[in-house]
Amino acid sequence: MSEGFKRVKGFADIYGPQALLFQRMEQTARAIFSRYAFEELRTPIVESTSLFQRSIGQQTDVVQKEMFVIPDRKGRLLSLRPEATAGVLRACAEERLDRSGRLVRVFTIGPMFRYEQPQKGRMRQFHQINCEFLGTDSPFADAELITMLMGFLGKLDIGEIKLKINSLGCRACRPAYVEKLKSWLAGKEENLCGDCQNRLEKNPLRLLDCKEEGCKNILKEAPSLLENNCAACREHFDKTLELLNIAAIKWEIDNHLVRGLDYYQRVTFEVVSDGLGAQTAVAGGGRYDGLLAQIGGSDLPGLGFACGMERLALLMREAAMPGLDFYLLVMDEAALPKGFILAQQLRNNGFSGEMNYSSASFKSLMRHAAKSGAKFGLILGSEEIAKNCVTIKNFASGEQIQSAQENLAESLRHLLENLSEN
Ligand code: HAM
Repeated sequence: MSEGFKRVKGFADIYGPQALLFQRMEQTARAIFSRYAFEELRTPIVESTSLFQRSIGQQTDVVQKEMFVIPDRKGRLLSLRPEATAGVLRACAEERLDRSGRLVRVFTIGPMFRYEQPQKGRMRQFHQINCEFLGTDSPFADAELITMLMGFLGKLDIGEIKLKINSLGCRACRPAYVEKLKSWLAGKEENLCGDCQNRLEKNPLRLLDCKEEGCKNILKEAPSLLENNCAACREHFDKTLELLNIAAIKWEIDNHLVRGLDYYQRVTFEVVSDGLGAQTAVAGGGRYDGLLAQIGGSDLPGLGFACGMERLALLMREAAMPGLDFYLLVMDEAALPKGFILAQQLRNNGFSGEMNYSSASFKSLMRHAAKSGAKFGLILGSEEIAKNCVTIKNFASGEQIQSAQENLAESLRHLLENLSEN
């Protein structure tokens, strides 16, 4: 026998209870988001590498180190999407959704790819539930989007979570803050970690959220980003917080929250949980006014967020597999076509189940039936064929009754209802 194949490092198969959790997240997302006028938009998994360079930022870790880049046969560089925002905005511009005269509210659900060191809650292929909202710079949009996110997460039963929020300022006020931060850091370079020494020139804001203890200690005294916001940014931020209060959403200001993607302006946020080990963020997002124009769309402001589905699944209570309604045991080879029709009729009536495709001993069929996890066994043997009936066995209690074949769906429904009542 040849050696089997293995999953690629950082990639996972999703099945069984985890697949059910993913289904529940998706159903909940669709139900909640549609109440806020969000529509689905599915974009390709592959985009031009330059789209991500232009939007996420040339100096970010995502673009510098984490993209899966694939040259096509003509040598053009394509990338597996490391996040959804860039592709969604590209699609909005290309499909001219940004010129519809309406606010654009879209969600997308699917796999993303980042070449990171895998650990609990950190994969190379992971899944995001992602929302983007284009066309308004009103703080009502920020507050409504965050309220929707918290409402969605609240429905998933993931235990205690915290909303951290900050304002990164805008193109008008941030450059001055960055200069201030750089001069404050002058003379402290040697005590920073290697990564931060590199970021100092290219991406100094990222120093604020370095996780190294040494850097954290130095940076906690740094000039405050929020206090250096211009009046318009501050007003936007305060109004957002006020609206979150009205919506009874708890928040905590985190002055060091800058996020790893360069496109953010003004309000940024993360939702964190203690239940995840080193990877604490289950969701993150913020405003990115100017990004759409930067990638060739109209000059609409925008904002959005993404949740990590693997991380949410780690926090959700594992759902029990629902189990099949029936396993049809056909004892006689000649009765298999009759069994095939009966099973089909039951499925057409909404029941789930399976049957055997070749005859075998009663004992071996019962073994298969038990493995299927079905609630009821439907036995079709020679006696049942002669009497035009089926024996229904409750696998949990061992009780058996007979039902006429033409009433089988009705009998099964009755028995299943009794089961769920008990
Ligand atoms: P992000 O913070 O890079 O933001 O990712 C959002 C969420 O995706 C994280 O909070 C985390 O739950 C999950 N995530 C990220 N990387 C991994 C990984 N390697 N393994 C497992 N889960 C992961 C964005 O992607 C932005 N595009 C969000 C956004 C949308 N901002 C505006 N619109």
